[in-house]
Amino acid sequence: MIGAIKHAAPMSQHLLQIAKKLAHDAGKMALKFQQKGFTVDTKNGSPINFVTEADRACEALILKTIESNFPDHSILSEERGATEKGGEYKWIIDPIDGTTNFVHGIPLFAISIAVIHKGKPIIGVIDIPGLGESYWAQEGKGAFCGSKKIQVSKINTLQKSLLGTGFSYDRQGARYAKNLELFNAFYKDSNGVRRTGSAAVDLCFVAAGRFDGFWEYDLEAWDVAAGKIIVEEAGGMVSNMDGSAFSPKLKSILASNGLMHSEILKILKDHGADKI
Ligand code: IPD
Ligand code: CA
Ligand code: CA
Repeated sequence: MIGAIKHAAPMSQHLLQIAKKLAHDAGKMALKFQQKGFTVDTKNGSPINFVTEADRACEALILKTIESNFPDHSILSEERGATEKGGEYKWIIDPIDGTTNFVHGIPLFAISIAVIHKGKPIIGVIDIPGLGESYWAQEGKGAFCGSKKIQVSKINTLQKSLLGTGFSYDRQGARYAKNLELFNAFYKDSNGVRRTGSAAVDLCFVAAGRFDGFWEYDLEAWDVAAGKIIVEEAGGMVSNMDGSAFSPKLKSILASNGLMHSEILKILKDHGADKI
């Protein structure tokens, strides 16, 4: 039990405090692994899709506290999978988002934790320990980096926009070729396109006004659940790449400052990106 924060605060406040502490503790643990070294395996039959000792240890640390405090809460966590309890609450966790960066010693990786209540995201927490930044949002209460309220940018032309994207581990399919085409299309007419290697970091960068938009195919719920609420609470917009209401099942995301959304959607449509 986390005794110090188990008081009469409303449930969502209580869950937020726990999510923040867990993301922060897991972040510290990940940094320690980076200093002392760790074992690396591959998964899902792909030689480039890593899972490390640190991913598993951070996940175990997070799950242990959730399961002992909330035995009736469901959990979806990247490395361990889904545990359905049929209750009102569900936690969605990516213990290390940006594992490839982590393996190469690049400090752009994140611990991502979301809490869903009756199917609706109510809390998102993303800790980026290598940058010393902790992003969080609570439904209807805004988005923050540490104690500072954050807001999306006000950039409203593609030429001035800095965008982000990412690529899944599948380098054979039509979506890989399409995303290279999109990278080229956006790169030539914008201020630039970045690929940070962590979708959670990308979404925080949209929320903080560093990126004006971010798109990617084939992300999973654990990659985006926390980031979606952080972007929306920072005043931004999140949809599928065809502009419809976001669902992780449709496996494509567009997040933006809102002002850029329709212009980015138009380019995606012009390239048939919404059709594959
Ligand atoms: C990956 C990162 C990356 C994205 C990949 C994800 P992981 O997550 O978010 O930025 O491009 O599609 O799978 O494997 O590092 O947790
Ligand atoms: Ca991930
Ligand atoms: Ca991960």
